[in-house]
Amino acid sequence: MNAARYGQNGNEERVDFLKNKEKVPAKKKTGILIGIVVVLFILTSVAAFLIWFFVFKDSNSKATLSKNRIPAEPLFSGHMKLMGATYDQKLEDTDSQEFKDLAAKLETDLGEYYKIDPLLSKYYTKSIVTAFSEGVNAYYWSQFYIPVGELELVPEFSEERVLNALEKSIQEPDSRMSLNNVKIRKITASLTDPRMARSPQAEDCFLHLEAAEEVQKFSSVGYPKGYPSGSRCQWQIRASEENAISVSFPSFDIEDDCSNDFVAVFDSLSPDQSQTITKQCGQRPPSNPLMVMSSGNILLISFIADTNVQKPGFQAEYKAIPKTEVEKCGGVLSKSSGNFTSPLHPIFYPPAIDCKWSIQVSSGLKVRIKFSMFRMKEPGVDIRRCHKDYVEIMNTKYCGELSNLALTSDSNVLEVVFHSDESFTDKGFSAEYSAYDPKNPCPDKFACETGMCIAKSLQCDGWNDCGDMSDEANCKCDSDQFSCANGLCKPKLWVCDRVNDCGDGSDEKQCSCDPNEWRCGNGVCLPQDVVCNNRKDCEDGSDEASCKASPDLCSDFSFKCASGECVNKVNAECDRVSDCADKSDEAICDCGTRPYKLNRIVGGQNAELGEWPWQVSLHFMTAGHVCGASILSDRWLLSASHCFVTHSSDNLIPSNWITYSGLQYQYKISDAQQRKLKKIITHPLYSQMTYDYDIALLELSEPLVFSNTIQPICLPSSSHVFPAGMSCWVTGWGALREAGQLAMTLQKASVKIINDTVCNTVTENQVTSRMLCSGFLAGGVDACQGDSGGPLVCFEESGKWFQAGIVSWGEGCARRNKPGVYSRITKLRDWIKQEAGI
Ligand code: ARG
Repeated sequence: MNAARYGQNGNEERVDFLKNKEKVPAKKKTGILIGIVVVLFILTSVAAFLIWFFVFKDSNSKATLSKNRIPAEPLFSGHMKLMGATYDQKLEDTDSQEFKDLAAKLETDLGEYYKIDPLLSKYYTKSIVTAFSEGVNAYYWSQFYIPVGELELVPEFSEERVLNALEKSIQEPDSRMSLNNVKIRKITASLTDPRMARSPQAEDCFLHLEAAEEVQKFSSVGYPKGYPSGSRCQWQIRASEENAISVSFPSFDIEDDCSNDFVAVFDSLSPDQSQTITKQCGQRPPSNPLMVMSSGNILLISFIADTNVQKPGFQAEYKAIPKTEVEKCGGVLSKSSGNFTSPLHPIFYPPAIDCKWSIQVSSGLKVRIKFSMFRMKEPGVDIRRCHKDYVEIMNTKYCGELSNLALTSDSNVLEVVFHSDESFTDKGFSAEYSAYDPKNPCPDKFACETGMCIAKSLQCDGWNDCGDMSDEANCKCDSDQFSCANGLCKPKLWVCDRVNDCGDGSDEKQCSCDPNEWRCGNGVCLPQDVVCNNRKDCEDGSDEASCKASPDLCSDFSFKCASGECVNKVNAECDRVSDCADKSDEAICDCGTRPYKLNRIVGGQNAELGEWPWQVSLHFMTAGHVCGASILSDRWLLSASHCFVTHSSDNLIPSNWITYSGLQYQYKISDAQQRKLKKIITHPLYSQMTYDYDIALLELSEPLVFSNTIQPICLPSSSHVFPAGMSCWVTGWGALREAGQLAMTLQKASVKIINDTVCNTVTENQVTSRMLCSGFLAGGVDACQGDSGGPLVCFEESGKWFQAGIVSWGEGCARRNKPGVYSRITKLRDWIKQEAGI
């Protein structure tokens, strides 16, 4: 799957414009006014209800951890710097008398401190010192308890208040001297997840580790069989003073809702929010392991788990790395070109580190810099301000996740400043710079305003190659190009394809027909009387698809009931309305639904588990995954003929294949239902030359057992219409880019059905009526090698998913004007019925 979310011009979304002709007539205005008043009334009522529901109704019982709401058992953690104490190795042993004495003393002190604030002392329960480190630093937490009924009375109970009380107390001249004149000099406190309150003497799951030069390992309880629900584990890791600590997780698979289960890493020995390095949940593929780094010689890892789902947990490896190596960054770069990265990239950079690179090239030249990777994401950061971690270049701060960041200097010197604060780190960046001559910045090439150079032929081709559109500004459009209202030129082919290619919608503006005309699905305007005249006038039959007025009329576009009755209604099958007298249109509809709740938003194009329960992976002999397929029933799969009819007859032998259903990760086939093939039926008219009739039916040797992750897809009737412009989804483990590697995680991509005329033109008439095009003419999103045989599915208003196509072929992958070509199921529907009986 080549699933860049946007084509390079970034315009993916379908925009339907209200055309002049469709504007509302004046006499309807009063009606509209009344409508608006009614809608406003409803909206206000809904808002009032929601406010009541979330703010008042639940305020006593809900205790979530957020900045402005205090949970019933608030926990604060932090550290204190002690004065007058000498560091003793024994303090690292929580069983030693030294530890116990000093901890007890400090715990009493903390209790005393809260007394200066009556509100705090009223609800205070206890404080626990969890560790000491050189310096001398003590790590602690303090717990409070607010009875449920009083929660709303104490909104002023806050982190600031706790910190104020502590700071005031330690400043008081008569503040209690601790044991042997030990005094607390500095103290921090931040609101902490109450589940982190652990006693350092706890028997279970509280570990003290010592990092050394060689790698050592630990793993979550029960790994890899599964961790118990209710896990509250902490690992305190220390290294000798001149070292920092690196931890990597070669295997990481926990629940993917971070509010239930998560691993948090702290640059402290306290689970102090303000010193969180990262908080992670979900599953990470081996190709993208989590690797973090401390800034000092201490680190705390906390694992909280509250779900009952069986997940393996994690394995961790830790070791000590000399601080000098960690802090090594920045410097003068005086070569005419080179690369540099954030500290330790692609390991997470350490917290609290500053670096400065000074790129100096020969005078008269300038510097251009390009970031091939830039990730400095931090929760709650406004990426326009970048007030936490950032890269600063020429007085502008950059943070967040950026693709294609490229800049040029004003002189022969360019300074790059990197800053990470105390909390939350990320993978950082990798950059490449080079010197260029401002008089001739791009020899034989076009110079973008970003400083990048691109091939001259890419200028004014309707395609944003520079990234800032500078290659598409001030263009004179060619005869085969459309002049957008904003001055851009786009291929004429892209006009009226229901995709806003210009960006200002001008290419989709003049696409409606005259009032006395009918607009076919492919955009062609025909006289109104072609509609329902029992003749197919539009190429796609849309003029005959919805003809309720003539119930007895049977055409190619009618839905045929089992009794032979014709229903003239678009997509009558499985729409929860019985249209046939014998109800056959609603008879076989146990398909096209996904049992899992999938309302979470996931980043990227990785599919969620159970999102495409009809997707199957076909493994061939020892080659692993080679093609996709879809589930039609517990015994039948649908795929492409070209996966089986090849130069070798081996592909036609059922026993050479294994099918995996319910699979998400290729490296976890043990999670899937594995079935052998009993029979492979390829279409007798399949042509290896033209890919015509590229369809195959696979009979399984054993039936599948349907589950949350294994479900059949609905097959459309032959009269089903998937109109041009409709957004559908293609899924598979195919290559992530043209000539690239296969995906390990199931990928999904949203593609649009392309009208047949355009499809024909762009493929130079290579498509037959058994094929359909889907994708984006602008390119960027497509299926690719290895997706073949997999389904193209569309969600219908009836609430079910229907398969519109089978991944068949394409010129390259995701190229512009080269959409994916799919086998058109509606045209092959009868053959499926004939061969598989479904
Ligand atoms: N024939 C390819 C396969 O065997 C699928 C190609 C799909 N290509 C595309 N650009 N949509 O996997």
